[in-house]
Amino acid sequence: MAEQKATNVTWHDGEISREDRYQILRQRGVTIWFTGLSGSGKSTIAVALEQALFKMGKLSYRLDGDNVRMGINKNLGFSGEDRKENIRRIGEVAKLFVDAGTISLSSFISPYKEDRDEVRELHDKAGLPFVEVFVDCSLEVAEQRDPKGLYKKARAGEIKNFTGIDDPYEAPTSPELHLHTDQMTIEEEVTAIIDYLLAEGFIRSEHFTRATDSADTVSAAAV
Ligand code: ADX
Repeated sequence: MAEQKATNVTWHDGEISREDRYQILRQRGVTIWFTGLSGSGKSTIAVALEQALFKMGKLSYRLDGDNVRMGINKNLGFSGEDRKENIRRIGEVAKLFVDAGTISLSSFISPYKEDRDEVRELHDKAGLPFVEVFVDCSLEVAEQRDPKGLYKKARAGEIKNFTGIDDPYEAPTSPELHLHTDQMTIEEEVTAIIDYLLAEGFIRSEHFTRATDSADTVSAAAV
């Protein structure tokens, strides 16, 4: 855990509770943490899951390795220390989203077990749920997919410390969900996650109509 540097700081509670926020949103917050090799499918699953949750009327928000590294974490690279800080910061950000009532979809290689466990502990301490999803794909398949051409560069020695090539990936030992993305379709993966969230009571199935749908209905009825 990072050390508390500032002194003379005091936590200030508001008048609106987490439960109050959850009531407005008609949902509870939860972090879904995708971990796996580059090219394993973390971001692809998160995008498809975000769509599926939207159709169910659930608010989610994606936090994605590449995107976050272009913003809040633009000053971090890929050394062990920087990866640790990357995960620590995003763990704190995910926690804020979940406290606010959002379903946070966090996709980061997060190669070190210790760093992922710290994020879990951060959530546990705050009484917030954390669901670890191991996006498991063999290095061979990830390398074949190579969507960004990075494995090729890493093999050519043009990128150093590339996860799976010359940097380690520590697989989760007891994730809540284990998806074999080299054997499943994206639909099966999304369904497995939604089923898990429903079964564990993280989300409830409710009928949802988009504002635009009702507008369509009205205009269709008017015609
Ligand atoms: S993490 O290890 O700190 O969790 P993160 O998920 O934020 O990594 O970023 C990984 C993404 O950065 C990869 O999908 C890839 O596009 C890019 N990247 C660039 N250099 C590296 C590297 N050396 N190792 C892994 N990913 C890299």
